[in-house]
Amino acid sequence: MKAVVFDRYGPPEVLKIKEVETPEPRDNEIQVQIRASTIVVGDCEFRSFRFPWWFWVPLRLYSGVLKPKRVRVLGQDLAGIVTKLGKDVQNFSIGDQIVAAPEVQMGGHAEFACLNVEKKAVSKLPDNVRFEDASTLPTGGLNALHYIRKARIEKGDRVLIVGAAGSIGSFAVQLAKDSGALVTGVDRSDKLDMLLSIGADKVIDYEREDFTQNGTQYDVIFDAVGKSSYSKSLRSLNENGRYILANPHVSQMVRGFARSMFHKKKVFFQFASYRGTDLDELVRKCSEQRIQASIDRVFPIKEIVSAHSYVDSGDKIGHVVIRISESDFKTTGSFHRDP
Ligand SMILES: NC(=O)c1ccc[n+]([C@@H]2O[C@H](COP(=O)([O-])OP(=O)(O)OC[C@H]3O[C@@H](n4cnc5c(N)ncnc54)[C@H](OP(=O)(O)O)[C@@H]3O)[C@@H](O)[C@H]2O)c1
Repeated sequence: MKAVVFDRYGPPEVLKIKEVETPEPRDNEIQVQIRASTIVVGDCEFRSFRFPWWFWVPLRLYSGVLKPKRVRVLGQDLAGIVTKLGKDVQNFSIGDQIVAAPEVQMGGHAEFACLNVEKKAVSKLPDNVRFEDASTLPTGGLNALHYIRKARIEKGDRVLIVGAAGSIGSFAVQLAKDSGALVTGVDRSDKLDMLLSIGADKVIDYEREDFTQNGTQYDVIFDAVGKSSYSKSLRSLNENGRYILANPHVSQMVRGFARSMFHKKKVFFQFASYRGTDLDELVRKCSEQRIQASIDRVFPIKEIVSAHSYVDSGDKIGHVVIRISESDFKTTGSFHRDP
């Protein structure tokens, strides 16, 4: 099969389309012909290995110290068709359309992948959910669902989301709205129209306004991107407010842990574990049009270098999707912006 392989950490140009062995399913695995994947910031961070030190060391030991060894194909999200079944797989059939979160195993940027259905979140897709939309659900949706649940939102709560136009933030906005919150989205000016289009009640351009200085108190501040000031954000919360951090610094984790034990305002920063039931819930909400994928651009897989450069630029609004088919590996063409 064809796959996008990287043999050294570095800029987008390290990504090469190569012929590699097609994976065969083990007893508890399904083989999936991949139709769509995404590029999330985590893929670019992994490719260039830009991580904070406390994450860098264990991840580098896992991935390969001098060059990528265990993870050679990126792609944390995938949607496609089941093509083979391991002998112990029971709840899936050949031909099922699925979406899955391979997590740190990655492998979404290839023609095929094998997934252990007992260990990974894998959900069947109804006919009205397209592969391209479904592929945005694992990383963006599962993280957003995890943190929004921890926010314990009640109808009418004021929720502010920092990094609201990102992969995680754009689903967090919609899930918070779905819970009955009044949502303020904070992001860069050119991304704010998208936020209004997915239901944000108010938007703030972080380059023009500091949300901690406008006098508004919130029940929940969810910082998806790790850019808010810890002390000022806590001061902008109501008495029982929740400060949720998807991308915490070590100092914030230490201070947050101590604060949550002794104060009414709580700080939450635990990472998400990806569960199949949560992915099912996201697929159902997507099918019922209670949430939608905010797709900025769809790139054919052969334009993977341009796609990574685009995500690296920081200009992406919502999600960048990779379309995968045999012809996309072979023919020329350019990206299109979804209507
Ligand atoms: N498995 C994973 O991949 C995973 C899981 C959990 C957490 N994370 C981490 O969580 C973070 C968010 O992930 P994501 O995929 O949602 O990222 P993303 O798609 O890049 O979205 C981040 C958004 O935050 C905006 N932003 C940057 N600085 C800001 C500021 N000061 N105030 C408000 N908005 C700001 C960015 O816009 P501009 O850059 O244009 O300003 C961008 O729109 C990443 O750092 C990621 O590594 C990743």
